[in-house]
Amino acid sequence: MSDSLSGMPNVMSIEGGIPLSGTVRAQGAKNAALPVMAACLLLKGQTLTLENVPDLQDVRTMADLLKTLGVTVETGTAASGTTPSAPGAALSHPGPSHGQMRFIVPEEVSSEAPEALVRKMRASSLVLGPLLARGGQAALPLPGGCSIGSRPIDLHLKGLVQMGAKIEIRSGVVYAQADQLRGRRIYLDFPSVGATENLMMAAALAHGETIIENIAREPEIDNLAAVLGSMGVPIEIEGTGCVRIKGVEEVHSGSERVIPDRIEACTYLLAGVMTGGQVTVTDVIPAHFDSMLAKLEEAGARFSVRRDAVTVFPAQRLQSLSLKTMPFPGFPTDLQPQMVAALSLAGGVSMVEESVFQARFLYADELNRMGANIRIRGNTAVISGVSQLHGADVRATDLRAGAALILAGLTATGQTRVGDMIHVWRGYEAIDEKLRSLGGRVELIPEDEK
Ligand code: UD1
Repeated sequence: MSDSLSGMPNVMSIEGGIPLSGTVRAQGAKNAALPVMAACLLLKGQTLTLENVPDLQDVRTMADLLKTLGVTVETGTAASGTTPSAPGAALSHPGPSHGQMRFIVPEEVSSEAPEALVRKMRASSLVLGPLLARGGQAALPLPGGCSIGSRPIDLHLKGLVQMGAKIEIRSGVVYAQADQLRGRRIYLDFPSVGATENLMMAAALAHGETIIENIAREPEIDNLAAVLGSMGVPIEIEGTGCVRIKGVEEVHSGSERVIPDRIEACTYLLAGVMTGGQVTVTDVIPAHFDSMLAKLEEAGARFSVRRDAVTVFPAQRLQSLSLKTMPFPGFPTDLQPQMVAALSLAGGVSMVEESVFQARFLYADELNRMGANIRIRGNTAVISGVSQLHGADVRATDLRAGAALILAGLTATGQTRVGDMIHVWRGYEAIDEKLRSLGGRVELIPEDEK
């Protein structure tokens, strides 16, 4: 796996109106891979082996960050045994999903995360807890170019302070210091995914037991717990939204498989629903996206669920509905834009309320350029269903917005060009190849041919 997918073409051209048909395999989950990769920093002179790691820009950014800190990262593709090809070369993709990654962690690593990498990705903040726990200090530029006011990590920092850390923020850098973190009872004011993960990793090497209440219940949290367990950390997640972690003096080599990507899987299911085709997504855990299946059923979609695969069938036009994004097991905010794209073609008026992130409707203007009728009222999108979208030149405003525009393009008349695909490469492995395998007419084109 080479360092960057930034050479990938930045525009996707889509000829819409073709019912997709066939089977695709879900990739490993981006949001599970990133924290479990960061967890390797708890090791000293040991190795973490992960299977089913997707080849995504965010995964490469996290790998680069770990390498900069001193970790040796080895990649391979366990199932095929082949080495990924160079990104961007001849518009090809780096390789199949089922990748194995090994993280060989020396006794000493740097405690300072470099700004250039941290600013690329908010999930870089996940190195803070393990770095502090293993070495007693860590420096982390505030991630993702965000100020602490607008996209805060205050819950991460508050929990670390409760465990005995001293935190200072100077010139946009968080400096954390703690000779020995102490196990504590911590209540999260909001079930933040990242805060839960950071504090679980910090607690693994803390002195005594940490109990974190009101934790995020996303399946990615269980994946991280399994990784920590494989490293010898006694950890138990209780159904009441609480995790108990008994800190250990040192962790040992571990291994785990990254869970399937529920957001990617649902994006392909929506592609089937929206184009009126029959699409099967395999290698999934359907219980991870029950909320999505419930909403699809409510909207009148037809589908069947097996143990590790879901198939959607052609059906009548979707019916409008209301939904609100919520922490798991509620409807995921990361599927909100794709669902709005689907509802923009439903009969009637749908209401979609975003309760997890602010400003997550920036893409609505782009969908409206394709003929959708979406009005934003505060945190709610009011979607008056139209009978047909038409192709247009649009831009991905972020990762999931990009997915929503691609879905819209697949069902629109004529040609759609989705620009700023750089966002999409952060989270969707080989999306053009997967869509082509379903019969979609999509092509990647370099920006200058646009
Ligand atoms: C993770 C996911 C992201 C998903 C989100 C919610 C990864 C790498 N990313 O992001 O794709 O959309 O969960 O499911 O797993 N907040 C605070 N203070 C904090 C932390 C968070 O106010 O200290 C707020 C955030 O600004 C946001 C909300 O809580 O409004 C949810 O954030 P959080 O659950 O932490 O999401 P992430 O871990 O950043």
